[in-house]
Amino acid sequence: MANKNLSNAKNAKNDEFYTQLNDIQAEVNAYIDYDPDVFRGKTVLLPCDDPEWSNFTRFFAQNFERFGLKKLISTSYAAASKNISATKNTKSTKGKKDVSWYQPSLFEQESPQYDEEKTAVKGKIFVLDHDTNKNGRIDFEDLEWKYLEGDGDFRSEEVCKLRDEADMIVTNPPFSLFREFLAWIVGDDGKGVLTQSRRVAECAEKVKGGLAAKNAKGAKKFLVIGNMNAVSYTEIFPLIKFNKIWLGATGFANDMVFAVPKGTIVSPSDKAKAERLGYVGDYTRLGNSCWFTNLEHGRRHVPLKLMTEADNVKFSRHKDIRGKGYVKYENYPAIEVPYTDAIPADHDGVMAVPRSFLDKYCPEQFEIVGIAEGESGKELGLKAVPKELKRLNRSLRDGQLYYMRDGFPEKPFARILIRAKRPK
Ligand SMILES: C[S@@+](CC[C@H](N)C(=O)[O-])C[C@H]1O[C@@H](n2cnc3c(N)ncnc32)[C@H](O)[C@@H]1O
Repeated sequence: MANKNLSNAKNAKNDEFYTQLNDIQAEVNAYIDYDPDVFRGKTVLLPCDDPEWSNFTRFFAQNFERFGLKKLISTSYAAASKNISATKNTKSTKGKKDVSWYQPSLFEQESPQYDEEKTAVKGKIFVLDHDTNKNGRIDFEDLEWKYLEGDGDFRSEEVCKLRDEADMIVTNPPFSLFREFLAWIVGDDGKGVLTQSRRVAECAEKVKGGLAAKNAKGAKKFLVIGNMNAVSYTEIFPLIKFNKIWLGATGFANDMVFAVPKGTIVSPSDKAKAERLGYVGDYTRLGNSCWFTNLEHGRRHVPLKLMTEADNVKFSRHKDIRGKGYVKYENYPAIEVPYTDAIPADHDGVMAVPRSFLDKYCPEQFEIVGIAEGESGKELGLKAVPKELKRLNRSLRDGQLYYMRDGFPEKPFARILIRAKRPK
């Protein structure tokens, strides 16, 4: 469903990506399969949404009774506050509010509470908790709405109050504010522990505390879409390492497609991929997008089926492993495993695997040792790269892994360090 209100947007910032119903359905069903009562009696907040047309609101409202929800709250961000304009940003338009692209929906205009003055500058709140039209069911038709006091910024006091009331937060937040949004979920209001770059261990302690203690009802549950690159953020990696958050059930290799405002410039190859998946028009695929959650799902408890080191050397489908084996790093006692399916089942030491491993990570099978990047790499004890090698390969930095190939120091692409868990 494309957002018709945005039909003339010429200059939408990267935050305007709208999630498709089947992606939401596939993901949420995995939690229901794992625990049919996961949403029972819960208040679910969908912030950064657009309740009039959002698939999140539609999906949860239509499943209100099946999921046994207590209350559904959905909030939207005011058109005038969005980073969208109908004209290209030029020196003369920069900084000026341009909402000429915005058209209130018919639904809004026909509602008794419609207000011409408020429509573009106020956020909206939609609430569903009872059968307002008395037709015997609670569903989308029973949503009640009003304008918020402010523009619906998730950091505003009124939306923070809604967050505090909610048991669960589900949304696709603005990508540019992902760190801040995650901090906000745990009650940090964007000011403290998560938004400051701190030492990993220090940050992890605070974050663990935050997730455990901020909500008297227990850790706030959430399910949000983000970018896979976020796993390396100083504030987010510790949460993954300590199993406080994990990737969602939809496999990372499954492309998610998003609707975009008409006129948004997207990568032609992503657009073509979306078209191949049947989404023709104002849609794009966003490589690297994935779900982050602290809700349990079954897929993350399925151990990877792996071959032994000897069998990988004999039979691996990867020619850089078959007949060759695994490269050892020069500055850390670990082996390089460039593919998740090439992890040797019987290796007892530390293994450096691609970030996409997290998609298959089963915490009963592996422990995460750390991330080989920057300060986190230095804290892990990765030895500094000698000056003469840095001269040979100018992209080498301290805190990164490197190995030697034909006398030349090479670094892998982003790596996570893991170790197999063995029964005691
Ligand atoms: C990635 S889009 C997703 C929209 C919707 N949740 C969906 O999945 O279809 C993020 C939305 O958050 C809105 N937004 C941007 N900054 C915001 C803020 N500070 N507070 C609340 N919403 C914001 C954007 O305008 C955009 O509509």
